[in-house]
Amino acid sequence: MPRQLLVVHHSRTGSTARLADAAIEGARDPEAGDVLVRALSPLDAAPDDVLAADALLLATPENFGYMSGAMKHFFDSVYYPCLEHTQGKPWALIVKAGNDGRGALGAIERIVTGLRWRLVAEPIVVVGEVEADHLARCRELGLTLAAGVDAGLF
Ligand SMILES: Cc1cc2nc3c(=O)[nH]c(=O)nc-3n(C[C@H](O)[C@H](O)[C@H](O)COP(=O)(O)O)c2cc1C
Repeated sequence: MPRQLLVVHHSRTGSTARLADAAIEGARDPEAGDVLVRALSPLDAAPDDVLAADALLLATPENFGYMSGAMKHFFDSVYYPCLEHTQGKPWALIVKAGNDGRGALGAIERIVTGLRWRLVAEPIVVVGEVEADHLARCRELGLTLAAGVDAGLF
């Protein structure tokens, strides 16, 4: 059974999806090794998906100074079922914002502090239009995470 990277991402108008897709593409690069990369909507991801993952990548827009409602639903769904079983889980984050991003970033960091997951890469916060270098950074993040999972680094 290959080790698993779970990407939970949500997008209303497509920007976060572009960033998440770049990360998924990087994670699926053969250079990353033999890692199963699963991509789920936060509306579908369940506690068992989190429990089965060796690492998580979350991607959300900032809406009204917070993570998207769908990502909030994800945390509402998984928090207590995972709380005692996922401490130390490696995770990383992509936030797509129009002009800020700090609200979503801080809200997610607070929740994940409660879960005691382990941040293994600097969060990527993209403000404004998605540019080629943002996509490249997200691709690199996906590749790095998957390679780390494959190598058992985390
Ligand atoms: C209802 C709504 C609320 C928003 N609130 C914020 C906000 O609080 N801070 C911010 O920086 N951008 C905000 N934005 C801009 C979005 O974060 C931005 O358009 C983002 O690219 C949307 O991502 P998506 O294309 O993946 O849906 C908001 C957009 C919408 C539609």
